[in-house]
Amino acid sequence: MDELLNDAARRAQAYLKGLDNRAVAPSAEALAALSELAGPWSEQGMDATEVLAKLDRLGGPATMASAGARYFGFVTGGSLPVALAANWLSAAWDQNAFSTVSSPLAASLEIACLGWLRQIFGLPKTAGGAFVTGATMANFTGLAAARHAVLARVGWDVEQGGLFGAPPITILVGDEGHAALLKAVRMLGLGEARVKRLAVDDQGAIRGDSLPSISGPTILCLQAGNVNSGAFDPADQLIPQAQGMGAWVHVDGAFGIWAKAASHRASLAAGYELADSLAVDGHKWLNVPYDSGIALVREPGALRAAMSITAAYLPEGSVREPYDFTPECSRRMRGADIWAALAYLGQKGLADLVETCCRHAAMMAKGLQASGYEVLNEVKLNQVLVSFGADETTERVIAGLQADGTAWCGGTHWHGRAAMRISFSSHATTDADVVKSLEAILRVAASNSTASDNTG
Ligand SMILES: Cc1ncc(COP(=O)(O)O)c(C=O)c1O
Repeated sequence: MDELLNDAARRAQAYLKGLDNRAVAPSAEALAALSELAGPWSEQGMDATEVLAKLDRLGGPATMASAGARYFGFVTGGSLPVALAANWLSAAWDQNAFSTVSSPLAASLEIACLGWLRQIFGLPKTAGGAFVTGATMANFTGLAAARHAVLARVGWDVEQGGLFGAPPITILVGDEGHAALLKAVRMLGLGEARVKRLAVDDQGAIRGDSLPSISGPTILCLQAGNVNSGAFDPADQLIPQAQGMGAWVHVDGAFGIWAKAASHRASLAAGYELADSLAVDGHKWLNVPYDSGIALVREPGALRAAMSITAAYLPEGSVREPYDFTPECSRRMRGADIWAALAYLGQKGLADLVETCCRHAAMMAKGLQASGYEVLNEVKLNQVLVSFGADETTERVIAGLQADGTAWCGGTHWHGRAAMRISFSSHATTDADVVKSLEAILRVAASNSTASDNTG
C-alpha cells in the first residue's frame, strides 16, 4: 500500500511539474495510444504497480493540460494544491457522505462549508444547501426545491402527485440562459418548450424591463455570469420585482457568482443575495478538483421536501442529515476539498483569486485590441471573446493555437459570429503566462490572417 501510494504521488508530482513544458492539448500519437486501454481483459489481473504505470504511461500524455497555467477553455479552473491534497486524503478515508452515521466527518465538513458559503454569497444563516457534482446538478437541485415551493403555494404536493394534473408552472429564462439550466428544466419534467424566454441586451444579460406580469406558479431563472461574455442579469432590479409578484427566483451562478467574493467585482453581482436558490460550481472558480457543485436554498424546507429520502418527509430533527438535501444517497466527501480551499484562501485569498483572473482577462483584451483585433464583449469579469476577422479566419486561429500548444482556447459563437473564448479561472495562471499566451495568439493570428480580415 505505502509503495503504491508513494508511486502515485511521485507520478502526479512529475506530471504537474512537466505541465509547463508540454503542449496543452495531447498529441495525435498520445491519443492513438489510448486504444491500448481497450485491450483484452486479463483473466488473472495485473500487478497494482504495473496497472498504475500503464495508466500513467498511456493516460498522462493523453490528458488535456487543464491543470496547467495556460488552459483557457470553457470555464474550468485548475485545482489549488491544498484542495488536490485534501481530495487525495479524503479519497484514502473513503467516506460515504450519505449521512451523519455513514460519515460524521463529511456531515460536519458540509455544515462548516455552508456557513462560509452563506457568508460569501450574502445568504441568511438559515439557508440550506447540497453538495453535488457540478452546476448542472446544482441547477437541478435548486429547481427541484423551486418546483416544490411554487406548487405547494397553490396546494399541490408535487412529490406525491407528480406533475400529472398539476397546475402549470411558468418558467422564465433569459435568451442567453446556459444549456445546462435548460437540461435541468427538462430533467425535472418542466418542459423546455414551455420555457418563456426573456429579451437580453448586447452582453447577453436579461433586460431590466423585460419581466412580464407574473401570476400563478412561476420560477424566474437568472444567470450570474454568461458563459461567453461573463455578463450578469440585473438581479437587484429583477429579483424584488419577480418576488413581489410571487415568483421563486433561481440563479445559475456557476462561476460568475464568485464575483461576490472580490470587493472590486461584487457590484456586478449586486442583488443576488436575494435569490431563493442558487447554483454554484466549486470546480470552476473555487479551484477544487472535479466534481464539485453546490446548491444553496434560502428556505431549506423546500429543498428538504424535494430531496428527502423518505417520501413522507419527517419533521427536521436537530441534526442536519445530508441525505435530506441531495439528489444522491451515497456520495464522495466533496466538503473536504471545498473546506480545504476556503480555509487556505481565507476571505483575502479568495478575493485575490477572483480579482487576479479578472485582471488577466483585462490584460489579454487590451493586448488583443492593441494589435487591432476586435474584442466582442465588455470585459468586466474573466471572459474574453475575440474575433480575428471573418469566421473562417477566427476558426483557423483557434485551431492554429490549439496545434501550437502554448495555450488552449476554444471557440464559440457570439451574435452570429465565430469567436475565440478565453476564460481565466485558474490560480495557476501568472502575468507571465498571460503575456506568453497573448504572444502565441498574436503569432498564430498573424500567420492566419489576411490584411482584409484584420478589422483593426
Ligand atoms: C452558467 C453556467 N451554468 C452551468 C454550467 C454547467 O456547469 P457544470 O459543467 O459544472 O455542470 C456552466 C458551465 O460552464 C455555466 O457556465
